[in-house]
Amino acid sequence: MVKNKKILVVGLANKYSIAAAISQSLSENGATLGFSYQNDRFEKFIDEFSKETNGAFTEICDVAKDSDIKSLVKRAVDEWGEIDGLVHSVGFAPADQISGNIEDSITREGFAITHDVSAYSFAGLVKEAYPYMSENSSIITLTYIGSQQATPNYNVMGMAKASLEASVRYFAATLGSKGIRVNSISAGPIKTLAASGIKGFKTMLKQHGANTPLSRNITAREVGDTATFLLSDMAGGITGQTIYVDGGYNIQAMNSEQ
Ligand SMILES: NC(=O)c1ccc[n+]([C@@H]2O[C@H](COP(=O)([O-])OP(=O)(O)OC[C@H]3O[C@@H](n4cnc5c(N)ncnc54)[C@H](O)[C@@H]3O)[C@@H](O)[C@H]2O)c1
Repeated sequence: MVKNKKILVVGLANKYSIAAAISQSLSENGATLGFSYQNDRFEKFIDEFSKETNGAFTEICDVAKDSDIKSLVKRAVDEWGEIDGLVHSVGFAPADQISGNIEDSITREGFAITHDVSAYSFAGLVKEAYPYMSENSSIITLTYIGSQQATPNYNVMGMAKASLEASVRYFAATLGSKGIRVNSISAGPIKTLAASGIKGFKTMLKQHGANTPLSRNITAREVGDTATFLLSDMAGGITGQTIYVDGGYNIQAMNSEQ
């Protein structure tokens, strides 16, 4: 599906990361991968993971810094000449922003940091990478239904995800004529480092699993396989979309079994 496609993966932290499941699926389906990591803390894991998945290179990139984004894209272009796929799997909110009621927790600084790292970073990466992206290339990012529906404790992260989903539509609209597709995957809850920062995440996981048409939570691998599809030419007609990989949770106003 993605044989010999050169795909840059941003947002790998550890083996539980959604980016790890995406990379495993991509690698098994023949893609060549390049990885970035946020800071030195993640370097050892990323180097090992890269070896296991036939990675071409690893490069540090704090997405809050334009200079790091520039260096990352330059590294990919130096290695590959052009880029066939980009995975943005990055999110961050200060802990006090994703805990409690929004009227008690939101601050100007918390709003700015959350939107910068979780939403602008996507725009910044795409802006830098698109001139080097091949025809029939594909970009994906990760979002959550908290962008559309109020979700306890998700707060300002929901606002940032709404912005991210809007960015997907704007970039898809203008990059389509260059042969570049842009989509997001709205994943159901999965236990990861980022998710553990959300207050009450365990309850979220339990309630979600009990209320999907599939009667279970989804797996990171299911997100990974959908990502591989979207990054492949098989998804050639799909752009500007939010694709839900959530066991069907989003289609219901109420669980029919209750
Ligand atoms: N886990 C879930 O339940 C879930 C559900 C829907 C969407 N998502 C989204 O999936 C994406 C990946 O999250 P995850 O759950 O795999 O958690 P994760 O903690 O494994 O991944 C988050 C990544 O963001 C990176 N990051 C944060 N700040 C950064 C910065 N300044 N510069 C560079 N990288 C930075 C971290 O290093 C990490 O690799 C996020 O956008 C998240 O919102 C997660």
